[in-house]
Amino acid sequence: MKILITGANGQLGTDLLLRLDKSGAIVIPFDREALDITDARAIARVVGSLKPDAIINCAAYTKVDLAEKERDKAFSVNRDGPALLARTAQGHGAQLIHISTDFVFDGKKSSPYNEDDQTAALNVYGESKLAGEIEIARRMSEYAIIRASWLYGASGANFVKTIIRLASERERLNVVYDQVGAPTSTTDLSDAVIALLQRRFDGTAKSGVYHFSNEGVASWYDFAVAILNEARLHGLSLKCRSIEPILSKDYPTSARRPAYSVLDKTKIKKACGLVIPHWAAALKNTMSALYGKSYA
Ligand SMILES: NC(=O)c1ccc[n+]([C@@H]2O[C@H](COP(=O)([O-])OP(=O)(O)OC[C@H]3O[C@@H](n4cnc5c(N)ncnc54)[C@H](OP(=O)(O)O)[C@@H]3O)[C@@H](O)[C@H]2O)c1
Repeated sequence: MKILITGANGQLGTDLLLRLDKSGAIVIPFDREALDITDARAIARVVGSLKPDAIINCAAYTKVDLAEKERDKAFSVNRDGPALLARTAQGHGAQLIHISTDFVFDGKKSSPYNEDDQTAALNVYGESKLAGEIEIARRMSEYAIIRASWLYGASGANFVKTIIRLASERERLNVVYDQVGAPTSTTDLSDAVIALLQRRFDGTAKSGVYHFSNEGVASWYDFAVAILNEARLHGLSLKCRSIEPILSKDYPTSARRPAYSVLDKTKIKKACGLVIPHWAAALKNTMSALYGKSYA
């Protein structure tokens, strides 16, 4: 099996490559410089010459707050890029697996969102990702979109690394507790992507949207507390003595975020026979990957 990966230098792309290394598949990674997903001619040339069996799109514009100012850029990468990939994949009979986000929802529910729930993005990033999903569904008869939430991994910039950096600089941190979701490690999401791709090839997983995150529920405050507990177990020197739970209204950001964005994972678990680790266990694994297995 020949798999083309876009956005291969991102946090998900990096871990996906590591996981696919052991799969026996021929994997052809492209970072943004090698393949810009908004460049129609480049996509046609690369896909036409390599003839991949599958394309996994890890490329995205992911700067949620900046997207409020850079609407056109966000839509170009998150809507037009996936549209081009979908058209080309459809033309070449390749599978497409695309990654989307919990930010397609407005967070007004109080029970986990399933794939059929009404979408209503609160910010430009979410709108642009939703537009990408719609373009793929319009252009392909068979596809797979995985919506994930609160992604972090050992590579790239993310909440885990930001909290550790801030905690090494400041004595006190304020973190919001009225936004609730589920942190998702890029290694566990990579395993889910690979499992879904295999089921798409053997015909046992249907075309459509799937939700994935680690198990459990957390606020950003809960997640930050767990990150710092893990950091201390790994012997990191932290200046921070207290983390204060605060309300979102006291931490204004350019982009509005859903208050509740827990995803219901029943569909992907059934389709792929997945047993998904709890977010706290997944965090331990990532912290060990980052800082070594220095505690018992
Ligand atoms: N991060 C989260 O919390 C989160 C949550 C839910 C869902 N997701 C989704 O999960 C997926 C993976 O996210 P991630 O966290 O791995 O993102 P990431 O670390 O920001 O990686 C995205 C990659 O896409 C590349 N890229 C940007 N524009 C491109 C273009 N025009 N052509 C080709 N590549 C381009 C970026 O390159 P440069 O670095 O050079 O710009 C970067 O390497 C995305 O679809 C994202 O929307 C993320």
